[in-house]
Amino acid sequence: MSYTIAITGKGGTGKTTIAALIVVAMTRAGKCPVLAVDADPNACLDVALGVEAKNTVGRLREDARILASEHPDISKRELLELKISESLVEGEDFDLIAMGRPEGPGCYCYANNVLREVLKEISDNYPYVVIDNEAGLENLSRRIVRRVDALLVVGEPSRNGIATLHRIQALAAEMNIEYGKFIAVVNRVHDIQNTYDDLKQKMGADGIVLLPHDDDIRMWNEEGRSFFSIPENNAIYRKVRDEIAAPIQ
Ligand SMILES: Nc1ncnc2c1ncn2[C@@H]1O[C@H](COP(=O)(O)OP(=O)(O)OP(=O)(O)O)[C@@H](O)[C@H]1O
Ligand SMILES: [Mg+2]
Repeated sequence: MSYTIAITGKGGTGKTTIAALIVVAMTRAGKCPVLAVDADPNACLDVALGVEAKNTVGRLREDARILASEHPDISKRELLELKISESLVEGEDFDLIAMGRPEGPGCYCYANNVLREVLKEISDNYPYVVIDNEAGLENLSRRIVRRVDALLVVGEPSRNGIATLHRIQALAAEMNIEYGKFIAVVNRVHDIQNTYDDLKQKMGADGIVLLPHDDDIRMWNEEGRSFFSIPENNAIYRKVRDEIAAPIQ
């Protein structure tokens, strides 16, 4: 069974950056192979990890439909295996699969369903699975995996941002999302101590991780560089490594 970490939170809070840094920290610690899952239709986790997801599972819809009509004897299972082999990107100590968006005006349900099927099929091959979700809370209800070991929610340091973290925690309970531990991450914090005290009192999360603003991180993203080349002494990376990745066995 794999250990699954799902990252969620509002738009632009730093989910993809943190997901990529977790993957880097896990592989550097020898906790690999990791399956990195980009469950955001506007995929960009691949860039952060220095690979390119050319074929997303959402894009394969048309191909699969044509294939099934040309070869009516092809089984559902064969079709699924084909989708997996075409959309899985192999990195050095990790593989990546991206949901992408279906071509044309289709809804995301299809891509989401295929991704769920694919994960059911392959995630057991990986000791660690890191899922970068789309912004917002709806993705929680889509449940691309049945249970996560760590639900990591990223928020902003404002009052509103912290209230959102709290709301997501309540929502996860209401929706019976099964998770092992809840990790609240506040990104770009100025006042570390006060934010920590406030969060601890309000949420009592299993893990509270506060990350400062870091211009190097911003630059890494702006230049589309792979986080695999982030130095060990980068402040954000160190915190992600020591406070999120290291406690995962
Ligand atoms: N600690 C930080 N210091 C400085 N810049 C940061 C930090 N964390 C994230 N950023 C920057 O904020 C922007 C948004 O980050 P990111 O793409 O990781 O967020 P996201 O939550 O995945 O966004 P989306 O909801 O669009 O998927 C990026 O330009 C990134 O470089
Ligand atoms: Mg993102």
